Amino acid sequence: MRILSIETSCDETAVSLIQVTGEFPHATYDILGNALWSQIDIHREYGGVFPMLAKREHVATIVPMLEKALAEAELDTTTITVDVHLEEEIRTLLSREPELAHKLLTFIKEQGSPHIDLIAVTSGPGLEPALWVGVNFARALALLWNTPIVPVNHMEGHVLSSVFDIERDDMLSDIAFPTISLLISGGHTELILMKDWGQYEKIGQTRDDAVGEAYDKVARLVGLPYPGGPEIAKRAERARKEHMPKFADFPTPMLNSGDLDFSFSGLKTAVRYAVEGKTLSEDDVCAIARDFEDAVTTVLLKKSLSATKKYGAETLVVGGGVSANQHLKRMFEATFLEKAPHMTVYFPQPKLSTDNSIMIALAGHARAKNALAPRGADVIRADGNKSLA
Ligand code: KG4
Ligand code: ZN
Repeated sequence: MRILSIETSCDETAVSLIQVTGEFPHATYDILGNALWSQIDIHREYGGVFPMLAKREHVATIVPMLEKALAEAELDTTTITVDVHLEEEIRTLLSREPELAHKLLTFIKEQGSPHIDLIAVTSGPGLEPALWVGVNFARALALLWNTPIVPVNHMEGHVLSSVFDIERDDMLSDIAFPTISLLISGGHTELILMKDWGQYEKIGQTRDDAVGEAYDKVARLVGLPYPGGPEIAKRAERARKEHMPKFADFPTPMLNSGDLDFSFSGLKTAVRYAVEGKTLSEDDVCAIARDFEDAVTTVLLKKSLSATKKYGAETLVVGGGVSANQHLKRMFEATFLEKAPHMTVYFPQPKLSTDNSIMIALAGHARAKNALAPRGADVIRADGNKSLA
């Protein structure tokens, strides 16, 4: 089975072409083409992602990404005739983006139809205007190529990409259940119980800011650009290496709350108070970054350990953009080795930690039986708050 996958939930426009051999969850995923355009440079200027700006960028770059992924894959194509009715249907579907309709039609008339068995598209959660670009684009492609289409939950993509072994055998790891999944991204911080593949039960979540959001806000407070995660992480590493003295005692919110929920807005406020009215040196920023990161790590670790104990989990899967953090990974691996050595801890391989469309193909394959016929796909809606459980 060959899957074309599309991701536009936030600030990455991504399209992949994946050749799948075998049945989920024992399949092999061969990446034939993978194109990703990051809008970070555009959003950096504004210190964050503005949904309408993100949408505009997706509209401008999604056809070039499709073109790149297809070119990489070098698939044979058959010519197709796009009759006036079909063309009208596509223009109506993309009526809010006439320029996108035009680009897509021009490209497809030239390109023809490759053999694709399934189109997978992120339908949520994420920024709704951004999600709609991907959803409508996918629906248009499904019509043009007469291909079934499946909506995908972005967070399921993160879970699967964390256990996808892209370096060794291109398969999902054979994880033992029950599994606890810690999902940490710009929009989410949640603990999920998985009794099996595709079965999700939310057992904890943030009551205010997501971890990635806290990283981004703290970065802004100390004068670092968006996205704050990698900027903070880099400086925190320097502070550790050079044994810089503590800048402040930051709180570890809800550490002893007895439940599996989180809260990060108080931590962010504590950083604000600690820096207010001060001129920060480069070293101060490094020390703050480390102290903040230590507080975050302490909370995430303790709650994850409690969750795995409470549910007798065999596996911990950490996913979402913040799982790119190497300190977090080291601390989790060392602590679980010491306190729960029977467990296996998974972090995504570096290029799969932040948003990408490979993970959307994996989740699309997992959900392939829910695929819709192209003309039945008008029930697929972008849902900014779509939940896993
Ligand atoms: O999953 P993702 O790419 O997008 C969402 O679905 O939200 O996550 C993005 C988040 C941003 O908040 C970013 O600052 C954070 O992940 N992030 C990191 C690191 N790399 C990205 N946070 C901490 N350390 C990192 N190395
Ligand atoms: Zn994400």
